[in-house]
Amino acid sequence: MTSDAAIEIAELDAWYGESKVLHGVGLRVPPGATVALLGRNGAGKTTTLRAIMGIVRRRSGAIRVRGRDVMRMPLHHMASLGIGYVPEERGIFAGLTVQENLRLPPKVGGGGMSDADIHALFPNLAERLTSEGTKLSGGEQQMLAIARALGSGADILLMDELTEGLAPVIVQRIRALIQELKSRGKTIVLVEQNFRFVSKLADHFYVMEEGRVIDEFPQSAVAARKEQLNRLLSL
Ligand SMILES: Nc1ncnc2c1ncn2[C@@H]1O[C@H](COP(=O)(O)OP(=O)(O)OP(=O)(O)O)[C@@H](O)[C@H]1O
Ligand SMILES: [Mg+2]
Repeated sequence: MTSDAAIEIAELDAWYGESKVLHGVGLRVPPGATVALLGRNGAGKTTTLRAIMGIVRRRSGAIRVRGRDVMRMPLHHMASLGIGYVPEERGIFAGLTVQENLRLPPKVGGGGMSDADIHALFPNLAERLTSEGTKLSGGEQQMLAIARALGSGADILLMDELTEGLAPVIVQRIRALIQELKSRGKTIVLVEQNFRFVSKLADHFYVMEEGRVIDEFPQSAVAARKEQLNRLLSL
């Protein structure tokens, strides 16, 4: 494997207990790129992110983050590589306020985005700093989850199904936010079933099925693949 990638995975297998769910997954995310991981329910997208973060521990193969082998790295050291994870279930603390959620660890050195920067990027959160997590809308919760990852200093972001269950107008807002993070040079991995959401955002696409990568293509091939993908993702 070459080591100039932000993330590089080769021959990755992963298990839940005795059940093997990833079979030889390989992918590469160059620094500053936005990469989409597409696939139907149960294809193995979330498991791939969990395997990168070390949340799924039973895995074999190779995973490098900024050239570092992370296969034996303890979970709590992952944040120090500047990698942040926005899980499908968002992982914010419902009983804490917006402000308190933003203050939670992990903080990685001095690299985190400042409060002022976060408030500018998320004006609706800035207006609701004292609201509890439970009082936020789905879209605000999603924004808070992203803001937390940015506050930790992550510049590689793994984000799982950001748009799930959100109204179209909120999806638009999240798209604009990702566009902004992209223009700031963040490295972004978007797991999505919503191909329309990522079709213009991502520079490169991987398609998973039954725990395998079955296809990959660059942004320039999107138009030609649209019909095939719509069928595959049954949109
Ligand atoms: N905690 C778990 N224990 C056992 N099996 C699991 C667990 N989580 C997922 N699986 C199984 O692993 C496979 C891959 O699931 P995964 O969640 O990675 O898919 P996904 O592509 O993220 O799907 P979705 O679009 O529904 O989120 C599926 O067969 C799923 O049933
Ligand atoms: Mg999933």
